[in-house]
Amino acid sequence: MTNINNQEITVEWKSPSNLAIVKYWGKKDIQKPLNPSISFSLKNAVTTTRVTAKPSDQGGFTFSLDGNKKETFNEKVANLLKMATSTLPFIATHHLTIESSNTFPHSSGIASSASSMSALALCLTDLQRMINNEADHNLDLRKVSELARLGSGSAARSLYGGWTIWGETPTIANSSNYYAVELPAIHPGFMQITNAILIIEPKSKKVSSSQGHALMNNHPYGAARIQQANDNALQLLEVLRSGDWNQFFEIAENEALSLHALMMSSNPGFTLLHPNSLKVIEEVRKARIEQNLPVGFSMDAGPNVHLLYPKCEEKKILPWIKNRIKPLCYQQQIIFDQLGDGPERTDIYEL
Ligand code: PMV
Repeated sequence: MTNINNQEITVEWKSPSNLAIVKYWGKKDIQKPLNPSISFSLKNAVTTTRVTAKPSDQGGFTFSLDGNKKETFNEKVANLLKMATSTLPFIATHHLTIESSNTFPHSSGIASSASSMSALALCLTDLQRMINNEADHNLDLRKVSELARLGSGSAARSLYGGWTIWGETPTIANSSNYYAVELPAIHPGFMQITNAILIIEPKSKKVSSSQGHALMNNHPYGAARIQQANDNALQLLEVLRSGDWNQFFEIAENEALSLHALMMSSNPGFTLLHPNSLKVIEEVRKARIEQNLPVGFSMDAGPNVHLLYPKCEEKKILPWIKNRIKPLCYQQQIIFDQLGDGPERTDIYEL
């Protein structure tokens, strides 16, 4: 299928990264999760992707990040395009120029695959809609989430603002292993969640997330992990409605530490924590007990630590961050973010 005027068309979307509180770790079949995961979308950490589709019998694509051709991402992009072609046939009959930029540094511990793959899935779905001349401008976000999932599992959760769940869960009727859905009725406190991302070690991760997920195949604690994640997901769903921050920190920290424990007990095993990651954890727990500060942490598969706290407590927490936490960060680097509203179309090409 070609576009009706046989002309180039361009679309641009901005999409956020997200932070999982219950972690997706391990997959089956085609990028389906071993357990449900729950996350919130970030506000400032976003990828903007512009795709220009030009009719061409050969198809093909070029990809650039921040103006530079990035061969390292070509395989991931090619993989997504290949899997998307059956539902979005324009991909086979157009050459795609894909230009991406991130608002956050690479290897900062913010999942760039979540924002970049969701932004790309939005652009591709929108281009097919325009080529089909569909009058309805609204995209079916579950379909886009399903497509984004094929690029990177966590990207499935970046299609909405606020809180999202991906993976079948008994108490959420519309939950699915194929796509993420929005979580309704969240306590207002958790719609104000702040995320201070502590850059402990800026170097690239020693283990890619695909390698990491593969470690769960035949993991000695595999079955227990699936049970734990399901229990944590059910509990977190309740906590997100009740607004209890202490229980929230318990679940978030249990998930972060379990993720690292699973990596350490894999074969081969990985230790991705930096000595300062452990020092931060100690400081957080001390601050909660000794100063009654409402702060907790999460971590993904790397050494950086995500501090979590309610926005309304910022005045109390910022001086503690400055005195106790900042000196533990690489070049005192901290990226402040908070819960965001989800993706947005940013071009004005279609009038
Ligand atoms: O989407 P992937 O394959 O990059 O995996 C993400 C894995 C974690 O960030 C560790 C957890 C999660 O749920 O985001």
